[in-house]
This record gives sequence, structure tokens and C-alpha cells, in this order.
Amino acid sequence: MNRFSLADFPVKYKRVLLRVDYNLPLTENNKVNDNTKIKASLPTIKYLLQQNCKIIIATHLGRPDGKIVPALRTDPLAEELQQLLPNVSITKLNDCIGKEIKQRILQANPKDIFVLENLRFYKEEEKDTLAFAHSLADLAEVYVNDAFAVSHRKQASVHAITRFIPSLAGILVEKEIMYLNKALNPQRPAVWIMGGAKLNKIEFMNNALDKADKILVGGALAFAFLKAQKIPIGMSKTDHDSVTTAAKLLHLKNRGKIILPVDFMVAESISSTAKATAVRYNQLQMNQIGLDLGPETIALFKQHLRPAQTIVWNGPLGYFELAPFSTATKEIGRFIGKLAATTICGGGETVEAIHKFHLGHTMTHISTGGGATLAFLSGKKLPAITALEENYRKFKNSFG
Ligand code: 3PG
Repeated sequence: MNRFSLADFPVKYKRVLLRVDYNLPLTENNKVNDNTKIKASLPTIKYLLQQNCKIIIATHLGRPDGKIVPALRTDPLAEELQQLLPNVSITKLNDCIGKEIKQRILQANPKDIFVLENLRFYKEEEKDTLAFAHSLADLAEVYVNDAFAVSHRKQASVHAITRFIPSLAGILVEKEIMYLNKALNPQRPAVWIMGGAKLNKIEFMNNALDKADKILVGGALAFAFLKAQKIPIGMSKTDHDSVTTAAKLLHLKNRGKIILPVDFMVAESISSTAKATAVRYNQLQMNQIGLDLGPETIALFKQHLRPAQTIVWNGPLGYFELAPFSTATKEIGRFIGKLAATTICGGGETVEAIHKFHLGHTMTHISTGGGATLAFLSGKKLPAITALEENYRKFKNSFG
């Protein structure tokens, strides 16, 4: 063991500061649009309730940049949590630090839950300031990090705070680490599916090349590889940096693992009424945009996926938001959901696609992280997880 987990730490009747990641989309009338992240925190919350803890929930929401932004208050999050836990007393507080807040918490009963105001209303949060972290730590006796999705950030409520009180990994954090480690130490054959619109992730293919037996490339990423080989891509999306990185990857010894599309569905505009036509990968015309994989590529990808024992899926394979270009994402999603392989999915857009096509129950693990999952799968150490390990070394003799 190199960090405290909930099960091996005495939390009974303690005041617990629980850092969650409820950074989620709100509707125009300020309601929670997708409560996946809130639901994902319930196992830890329920465990703490069973242990008669007072639970102080802390999260950021959006990027208010150190200012109070009324639209980013945490009230809708507290309301949604209350819906999910109707029999628990949940109080939203209008600040996240200070004497008054502490007083309210001290006067509360075991099993009461408080939801603090948006941590990022204080610029000190993103600056990882010790004084701010100390004020947060002062509210509680124990700290639990269940905010995997923000654990790649060096910020006060996930990093500096661990300097002050015993700090534990929550159930969600443990689960994320367990499954993402399976991606990095896979049962073979291991196949990674890489897609999406964000081209910056091409850098993390370096690690993918190390860990995977095959990397199936779709989405906008594919065009960087084509352009790097001077193949015309019409008006398809790409950028200079990605093309440069793709060119480097194509020179590596293990480049044979990279499987590129052999055909695309193209159109002249991005719209739900656009007419999609299949073309060979090297036949795109100047006025055409590649928006989905073609039928031959879908068949080719299935062939590579069939024997896989581990599948990592990051990024949709086409413009799945529009029906004419959703086929590859939907078909490949359905296909891997039926395989016996361990399927680990991550990234905001991938999760959106999985929900849209009702595939959630068919996957082994759907990560709640976007940037954090990418960083983990890139082989990087997450600062907030390292901080838990340092905290363990500091406190283990007091609570071993
Ligand atoms: C996320 O939603 O990926 C996390 O909450 C991190 O948010 P951030 O990119 O604003 O730090």
C-alpha cells in the first residue's frame, strides 16, 4: 500500500472534507445536464454516511478565474445530489472557507452533508496556495480525494491540502487507477482506438505505441497521418503541430502498430442533411471534408478488435453528433461492447458518444476523466495522486 484508502483508515464520526469533481455541464436554466460525475461519487458518500461522518463536499465548476460568477455557483450540484440522496440533510454553503462555515459544520450532526461554494471563486485554488489549502483543511479532520478528473492539476484542494491532514483516496479514485492501470499493463492483444477532434492528444500516442499491439486511428487524428504522408485531405480538419508529430511517429520502429483508415465518409459541408459519400483514403477532393470512417475501415477495425483481450477507447471515430457521420462510432462501440475483452473508455467526447448510443452498460470501465485520463494513459504521474502517496509516508506511523 502506498496511499491510504477509505477501507484502511479510521473515519468513523469524523469531519471529512470530500473533494469531488462535479465540473459538469449545466442547462440554460441552471440545472444539471448530465449527472454521471455526481453518481460516480455516491459509493464514497454512502460509505462515509455509513461511518457516521459529517461530509463537507468541495468541487470546482467551470473556470471562473478567481472571481465570483453567479452562473457557476454550486447550488444546482447540491440540488442534484439531494435528489439522489433524498433522505440525507444536504446544505449548500455560500463560501468554501472561513470561521462562519466552520461553525456551521461543527454544529451539524453526524451524516449531515455540506456542499461548499465553487473553489475556483478563489484564485488561490488554482495557484495551489498553502494558506488557502490550510483554510480548507481546517474545516475537517480527514481529507478524501475522489476527484480523479482533476487530479492532473496541481491545485490547492487536490494537492497542497495533503500537507495538512491525513489524506485518503476515495472509492472512485481507486477504481479509476485500477482500471487505467489495466490499460497500461494489459492482457494481450491490446488494441487502442484513438479518435476525436482534439488533435493535441497525438502526443500521447507515443505511450500508446509502447503499450498497445495495435492502434486504430479515426476521427480528425487520422488526417494528420495522411497529411504527414502528403496525401490530400480536402477540407478535413488538421493542424501543423499534429502533422509534425504524426510524421515523427511514422518514422518510429514500431509504426507498423498504427492502423489508418482505408476509406472515409465525406461531405461538402458539416450538416445533418449533408449527403455522405464513401471515398478511398487517397481520393479526397479539394471541396470534401472527411467526417466519418468508411465501411471498409469499419470492417478492418473490427478485424483487429476481434482477438483483443484489452481495448482502450479514447475519442469518437467520426462527427457522431450528426446522424450521417455517426456510423463508425456507433458500430465500433456496439461491436466492442459485445466482445469478452476488458474495455476501458475515457475522454469527454467518448463518454458523450457512449451515452448517446446507450452503450454504457456494455463497457468494463468508463472513466470520469478527460485531461486526467489522457495524462494517466500518457504515462504521466498525476500530481494529486503523488500528493496522496507523500501524505501516506508522512502520516502512516500515526495511523498505520
Ligand atoms: C474536467 O472536467 O476535466 C476537470 O474538472 C478539469 O477541469 P479543468 O480542465 O478546468 O481543470
